[in-house]
Amino acid sequence: MYYSIDEGTENERDQVRELLGPLGKISGTVEDKIITAWTSAWKSSPYEALADAPYSNHAPEIRLMDHVRDVNHFGIRFAQDAQKHWNCDYDAEELACILALHDVDKPLMFTRRGNQVEKSEISKNIQHGVLGAMILTELGLSQRVINTVATHAVNSPFHGENFYAFVLNYADMFASDYALMQEGHVPYYQK
Ligand SMILES: [Fe+2]
Ligand SMILES: [Fe+2]
Repeated sequence: MYYSIDEGTENERDQVRELLGPLGKISGTVEDKIITAWTSAWKSSPYEALADAPYSNHAPEIRLMDHVRDVNHFGIRFAQDAQKHWNCDYDAEELACILALHDVDKPLMFTRRGNQVEKSEISKNIQHGVLGAMILTELGLSQRVINTVATHAVNSPFHGENFYAFVLNYADMFASDYALMQEGHVPYYQK
């Protein structure tokens, strides 16, 4: 098995909470599932500290959890503004889950070798997003959260057609491109 469900210690759960940053308006039960999903991926990964997990093999300096925190921040704001400006209707708790969990499988997708980051063996067998969706299915997240995480990757054969997938995509690209440019990489919008 690529991972096992692991609730971690209280201290580890607090570390995850800190790294994720504010998640918007969500219930304690849903927050628990988000934290357990991340502790499971972390404890199944090679990283001693979750903060060490990289964003990708193309940009080893960018820390995954900085990226996820940025996606949470901008995704929540994009959706709030879209509601005010365009009257878009959505469930804030479900959106918060999608934003916070979209890259939950990434600690399992890459390994560090010195200053370099390489694709893991797991990533050659299962696509990014799909492994995350498996973890989320086991934890009982909603079908919409599972579907959106499963199909969000840039190289996914298709993407979700709903508001949640749309907001995640732009928050993900906005946060990714800023971090990539900061580190001197070519952003997605110029590819
Ligand atoms: Fe992703
Ligand atoms: Fe992402």
